[in-house]
Amino acid sequence: MAQFSGGIRSYTRVVNDLTGRVAVITGAASGMGNASAVLLADRGARVVLVDVNPSVDPFAVELGARAHVGSVADSTFCDGVIRATEDEFGAVDILVNAAGTIVRADGADTSDEQWRRIFSVNVDGLFYMCRAAVKGMAKRGRGSIINFGSIWGDVGGPGHTAYAATKGAVHQITKSLALEHARDGVRVNAVLPGEIRTPMLSSERESPPTEEDLQALADRAVPMGRLGDPKEVAEVVAFLAGDASSYMTGSLVTVDAGYTAR
Ligand SMILES: NC(=O)c1ccc[n+]([C@@H]2O[C@H](COP(=O)([O-])OP(=O)(O)OC[C@H]3O[C@@H](n4cnc5c(N)ncnc54)[C@H](O)[C@@H]3O)[C@@H](O)[C@H]2O)c1
Repeated sequence: MAQFSGGIRSYTRVVNDLTGRVAVITGAASGMGNASAVLLADRGARVVLVDVNPSVDPFAVELGARAHVGSVADSTFCDGVIRATEDEFGAVDILVNAAGTIVRADGADTSDEQWRRIFSVNVDGLFYMCRAAVKGMAKRGRGSIINFGSIWGDVGGPGHTAYAATKGAVHQITKSLALEHARDGVRVNAVLPGEIRTPMLSSERESPPTEEDLQALADRAVPMGRLGDPKEVAEVVAFLAGDASSYMTGSLVTVDAGYTAR
């Protein structure tokens, strides 16, 4: 827990400040990983960006950050990212696992290739990154891991069976690792976004949705009646990353405008 003296305003500032922390963020080229990287850097963290998309490189230059281009589905790559970060900065204090992909198909229509592809990124990749980072965190006695789950890891995701299955697995990885390291100073939590306006909303469809389609989705599916902004999820990631959330581990935090409240 953060040590502080002074009033509540300085407490709030101290627990939200990430100065000196080293944060590795996967899926940092786009969407919520990107928004999380910007916010963690803004709060003072040194950020290391990971993505399979090389567009992460110019973004890292803009942010004054390190970048690693490669796939989290490759465990050797994941081990290398963590090792290089520990060698250069001495530690990984925060790991944000936002890299992810989607398959839009009913279970009955999901091919072996689709099933394996989505598990290799959403589950294998996230697990490899956690495994690579958590040992060093436990040894140093400090660390915060934030995994991207989903509302569809909680409630069913019709038309997205494989995706929902991967997110259920993410939730269980999160809770199990949290228990394994609860006395090591390492916290492991997950954010469960609802319908957030990122490129993923349009991906793997025959044609990209129009603004009207997206508003119809929000009207139909989201109690608040609008899609989320990636920054609204990044705020929760930053909260989970820092000492403001010091009494939280193993938590699955929905950021879904009421979607799963029904
Ligand atoms: N958008 C939503 O509504 C929504 C809802 C719930 C959960 N999520 C989850 O949030 C996370 C972020 O999604 P987003 O909406 O920002 O998507 P996005 O498509 O904007 O970003 C995903 C990023 O992951 C990267 N990526 C994909 N495969 C990779 C791999 N093998 N190795 C490294 N990087 C890889 C992509 O290049 C991309 O930059 C994902 O885990 C997603 O499943 C999204």
